Amino acid sequence: MNMLLEIEKLSAGHGDAIALHDISLQVEEGRSVAVLGRNGAGKTTLLETIMGLTTHYSGNLRFQGEILNRRSPVQRAHAGLGWVPQEREAFPSLTVTENLMVVHQDKGPWNLAKVFALFPRLEERQANLGSQLSGGEQQMLAIARALMTNPRLLLLDEPMEGLAPIIVEELSAAVMQMTRETGLTTLVVEQHPIVALAMTHSAIILDQGHVVYSGLSAELSRDEATIDRYIGVGQES
Ligand SMILES: Nc1ncnc2c1ncn2[C@@H]1O[C@H](COP(=O)(O)OP(=O)(O)O)[C@@H](O)[C@H]1O
Ligand SMILES: [Mg+2]
Repeated sequence: MNMLLEIEKLSAGHGDAIALHDISLQVEEGRSVAVLGRNGAGKTTLLETIMGLTTHYSGNLRFQGEILNRRSPVQRAHAGLGWVPQEREAFPSLTVTENLMVVHQDKGPWNLAKVFALFPRLEERQANLGSQLSGGEQQMLAIARALMTNPRLLLLDEPMEGLAPIIVEELSAAVMQMTRETGLTTLVVEQHPIVALAMTHSAIILDQGHVVYSGLSAELSRDEATIDRYIGVGQES
């Protein structure tokens, strides 16, 4: 069992405000992990902390065996961390192909042909400008751009947010395909537990900055009481 990411008793936050308390989390190479929890639970802060964008208080963050606590975001990206922020951020005045090629790093399996095979919609839109894409297409482009950097670990922040159900289905199928085909390790933040649990191997739930559940996704998806308690009913609207 090869642990790609190991977080040990980590506390971090925004300036003086601690948002994450004593977080422990292990991500095995080739697996995908869901990070669930209500709005404000600390999900985005956890991804930002992994990327080095928050204030580190205590604990350790180890990636491929190396402690990254004091590394800059750029150094972490070079080490193989890829991040798709909650705000989609494609270059509006570049075409889809240009958006992909400016970030391409030729050090792994992902290239233009591979991401177009994964997202046929992007191939159809390859000459369109970033600003001319629908919400779903922009989200696909954001994920495709992260893949073009050939990360070892991909962090996705609410990739399905605000998308129509049919696009959610298409996107979650693509995410599952990309983890299956290249053994890419992913950490997926989601508010919708059913979608997230179907596409991941294991899951944690955050509540007020604490890990309140950690287990297999298949088990959590059958545990309605835990889902209701920490994520709430009516999430799957
Ligand atoms: N830039 C920031 N400065 C100060 N507090 C923040 C900032 N971003 C988030 N927070 C606070 O940190 C907590 C966790 O937020 P966040 O990680 O965005 O939650 P989630 O992604 O689970 O909705 C919340 O209390 C939020 O108000
Ligand atoms: Mg968030």
